[in-house]
Amino acid sequence: MSTINVALLGFGTVGQGVCEAIDTHQDRLKEVLGKEVKIKAILIKDPAKQREIDPSIRVTTEYKDILDIPDLHVIFEAIVGEEPSYTYLSKAIKKGIHIITANKAMFAKYGPDLLEKASKNRVSVGFEATTAGGIPVIGTIRQLLKVNEIQSIQGILNGTSNFILSQMRTRELSFATALQESQEKGYAEADPTNDIEGYDAFYKLLILSQTAFGRQPDWKDIRRKGISHLTSEWLQAAESFRLRFKHVGSLERDGSNDIKGEVEPILVHDTHPFYGVENVENAISLKGSLVGRITLLGPGAGKCPTGSAMVEDFLSLIQGKYTISPESTVNREDVQEDSRRQWVLRIRENEEYQSWLTLFTLKDRIQLGGDLYVFVEGRKEDLRSLLQSHEHIQAVSILNEIPLENEVKEGVAVS
Ligand SMILES: NC(=O)c1ccc[n+]([C@@H]2O[C@H](COP(=O)([O-])OP(=O)(O)OC[C@H]3O[C@@H](n4cnc5c(N)ncnc54)[C@H](OP(=O)(O)O)[C@@H]3O)[C@@H](O)[C@H]2O)c1
Repeated sequence: MSTINVALLGFGTVGQGVCEAIDTHQDRLKEVLGKEVKIKAILIKDPAKQREIDPSIRVTTEYKDILDIPDLHVIFEAIVGEEPSYTYLSKAIKKGIHIITANKAMFAKYGPDLLEKASKNRVSVGFEATTAGGIPVIGTIRQLLKVNEIQSIQGILNGTSNFILSQMRTRELSFATALQESQEKGYAEADPTNDIEGYDAFYKLLILSQTAFGRQPDWKDIRRKGISHLTSEWLQAAESFRLRFKHVGSLERDGSNDIKGEVEPILVHDTHPFYGVENVENAISLKGSLVGRITLLGPGAGKCPTGSAMVEDFLSLIQGKYTISPESTVNREDVQEDSRRQWVLRIRENEEYQSWLTLFTLKDRIQLGGDLYVFVEGRKEDLRSLLQSHEHIQAVSILNEIPLENEVKEGVAVS
């Protein structure tokens, strides 16, 4: 039986997951592909680390050794950061080797370039594992795009921040304590900035945009906000309105075909599918022109889910199922404007509010400590001018029941 030769770059959580998935599913791979899959070599950084690796697999710190493997078909990349990943993968593509990556920070920046290079060199790029771990969102978008146009995407894309928010709410923990627990459990890195300040979700959102719309919005136009400013009081106040804070990335194409994107904590109503997404789970909601709204839930990270995503990519790629998604268009009439929205406002003690509150419909209110929290509905323009004239008032918008038309919130701040 002939073989498909592969190599791994990185042997951490994800690299080991890929290795295990190939090892434990060799029979299944043979059945589907009619070929044996052979891991020829693994690239690592630190040769002194103890590792359990089959002695028939070459372990090296030199990338040249990988490129010199005769008849190498596919490289799985699971190392960290933009470089040397981008350079390594560019060289692989030039040699006609297919690539599969889990590296979101690298792919958000260099994905368009790698896809173009791959297209010129007639090789494929798999990147399912860069976004939402085990949830097959990239494959779902590719499938939908055969007929649908994707109009909007929303997602809980970072499991660590979702875990922290769940713990703060259910156990009334402070942000610092919940973060420390997430580090002890191995969810957050020693430097948690990427997770808690929204960078990780930001990278994933850009990759989703590239896949669904064939391009990315300008990075500086995407509002990115993390969760480190949220307090347990905010979460309790929200709960009393049957609302929960979730860190959500959103993308929407408007009538002029511009892509708008935000990454920030917003409030989710209990009728919304994101409401019950707890701890390290991820969720993604896609709106297609024909299919309507689809929501996918599942594990957003981890050795097995991410290994599974990369090996699924491998199968699709070897079976020739990957094509680069075409740029599609959206009709102006598909974009509906709804001028009345819902928000929760936090009003400091002594802040005068009776006069302007008449601009909104008051749905509920709760006093917590020295602050009044009000749940209101009204026009976005009124909220905007209120926030401009009352700098102590803070507002968070609400992601409501399906269908989710998350019209977002210029000038709305939470602190
Ligand atoms: N962890 C997850 O659940 C998850 C999910 C989706 C995507 N990802 C992405 O997948 C990638 C890998 O994540 P991970 O969690 O597996 O990381 P990890 O556990 O820290 O492992 C990283 C691996 O890459 C190797 N490496 C790092 N820099 C290298 C270099 N310059 N040359 C050669 N090898 C190098 C390390 O070598 P040594 O072993 O010698 O140190 C290690 O084996 C990241 O880009 C991450 O964002 C992770």
